[in-house]
Amino acid sequence: MSQPSTNLHVVILAAGQGKRMRSKQPKVLQPLAHRPMLAHVLGAARALEPSHIHVVVGVGAEKVKAAFVEQDDLNFVLQAEQNGTGHAVQQALPHIPDEATVLVLYGDVPLLTADDLRPLVDSQHSLNVLMAELNNPFGYGRVLLNDQGLVEAIVEQRDANEAQKAVQTVNTGVVCAQSKWLKTLLASTNSDNAQGEIYLTDVFGIAKQHGVPGFGVLLEDNTVMQGANTPEQLAQLESIFHMREAQKLMRDYGVRMVSPGSVFVRGTVMAESDVSLDVHVIFEGEVHLGEDVQIGAFTRIKNCRLAAGTVVHSHCDLDGVVTTGACSIGPFARLRPSTTLSEGCRIGNFVETKNSHLGVESKANHLSYVGDAVVGSRVNIGAGTITCNYDGANKHQTTLQDDVFIGSNSALVAPVTVGEGATIGAGSVITKDCPAEKLSLSRAKQEAIEGYRRPSKSPQK
Ligand code: UD1
Ligand code: CA
Repeated sequence: MSQPSTNLHVVILAAGQGKRMRSKQPKVLQPLAHRPMLAHVLGAARALEPSHIHVVVGVGAEKVKAAFVEQDDLNFVLQAEQNGTGHAVQQALPHIPDEATVLVLYGDVPLLTADDLRPLVDSQHSLNVLMAELNNPFGYGRVLLNDQGLVEAIVEQRDANEAQKAVQTVNTGVVCAQSKWLKTLLASTNSDNAQGEIYLTDVFGIAKQHGVPGFGVLLEDNTVMQGANTPEQLAQLESIFHMREAQKLMRDYGVRMVSPGSVFVRGTVMAESDVSLDVHVIFEGEVHLGEDVQIGAFTRIKNCRLAAGTVVHSHCDLDGVVTTGACSIGPFARLRPSTTLSEGCRIGNFVETKNSHLGVESKANHLSYVGDAVVGSRVNIGAGTITCNYDGANKHQTTLQDDVFIGSNSALVAPVTVGEGATIGAGSVITKDCPAEKLSLSRAKQEAIEGYRRPSKSPQK
C-alpha cells in the first residue's frame, strides 16, 4: 500500500571512512559543486517531504554534525563501529515506528533527485530496490531477478561467482521498505561474507526465503546513480552535475552558451530570454539574469540580479551586484557586495566597487576603487580615483552629486560630499566638501624653474 509522505523516514548512511579519498575530511563532506555531497543527498530527501531524516554518522561524526549544525530537521544517529550498511541502518531503526516507510540513501551517491526516488516511495511493495543497467557493473552489488522480474538476492562484487559477476543489473544502493518488515529481515542478517560485515543487501535473499521477494525499480538514466569513492569519481560527478545544470539552463530558459561543459552552476540561476554566456562562466548563490544579458568569458557571478541588456565583459568577478537597467561591466572588474548600478552605468577595467550606488549613466572606466559611495547621475569618475573610505577604524561615506566630474588620480577622503556639477582637478586629495558647479583642486602648483641644468656624468678617470 502506498504510504503518505508524512509517514516517510529517510535514513542516510554517512558513517563510512572513505579511505580511497585520501583526505582528512569525512567522505560525505567532500564538495560537489561547492557543497558537501551529503547536502545534495539531503536536498533530494527533503524534496520528498519526509516526516523524519536520520543521518547515520561514524567516522568524523563531529565534523559531519558541525557542517549541518544549523539544520534542525536532522536526527543524527551514531554508528560507533562501521560494521556494514545493514548494521548502519539498524542503528536508525529504533527511532522509526513500525508503520513507517523507510527510504535508505547513501551519503556518497549525490546525483539522485527526488524524481528518481519517488517511484520507490510510491511502490505498493513492502521491499524495493532502485536498480540500474551498467555495461561495466564492476564493484556494484548484482541484482539477481527471477522469471517474474522480482528480486531474489543481491550479491556483492566480492562475494559473487562468475555467473553472477556477468549480471549487469546493479544495486544503486537505494532501498525502500516497510519499517516493520525491514526490522524483521535485518534481524536475520549475519556477517558471513567476504568483508565480515552486515550487508543491507542481504535482506533481499532473506525476504525471498520468507516467500516475499523484493521489487526492483529500474533507473532510466544510469549516470545519476554513480557514487564517489575516489577523487577521480568525484571529478566525474562534478562534470555530470554541471553538464546537467547547463542543459537545464538551455532547456528551461533558452540560455545560449558556446561551451556547456565550461558553465558551472553552483547555486540557482533564473534567466529571461536571449541570455548568452561565453566560455568558463561560474554562477554561485542566487542569480537572476534579465533579457539579453551577456556574460563574457572567465567570469564569476554570485548572488546577482542583472537587469535586461546588461553586458558583463570577460574576466569579471561580481558578488552581490544589482543592476537596475542595462549597464556595461568590465573587462577585469571586481564588483563586491551591495553594488547597485543604474541604467547606462559603465564600470571599466581594474575598477573595484563595494557598498556603492551609482545613478544613471555614471562611469568609472579605469583603475578605481569606489567604496561606501553614493554617486548621482551622469558622474564621471576619472582613472585612478580612490574613495578613501576607511580611516583605520571606521568606514565613511563619499557622496558625489549629479553631474560631478572627478579628474584622474584623485583621492576622496571620506566623509566627503562633492556638490552637483562640481569638477575636481586631477591629482587632488579632497578632504573637505566641494561646492557645487566649481572647480576644486588640491595639489602643489606647477612651477618652471629658471636656469635649471641637468646633472651630467663626471668624466671617467
Ligand atoms: C554499496 C552496496 C552495493 C551497491 C553500492 C552502490 C552494500 C553491502 N553494498 O556498496 O550493493 O551496488 O553501494 O553504490 O550495501 N556506510 C556506513 N556504515 C558502514 C558502511 C557503510 O554508514 O558500516 C555508508 C558509507 O559511508 C557510504 C554507504 O554506506 O555512504 C555505502 O557504503 P560503501 O562502503 O561505499 O558501499 P559500496 O561498497 O559502495
Ligand atoms: Ca560507495
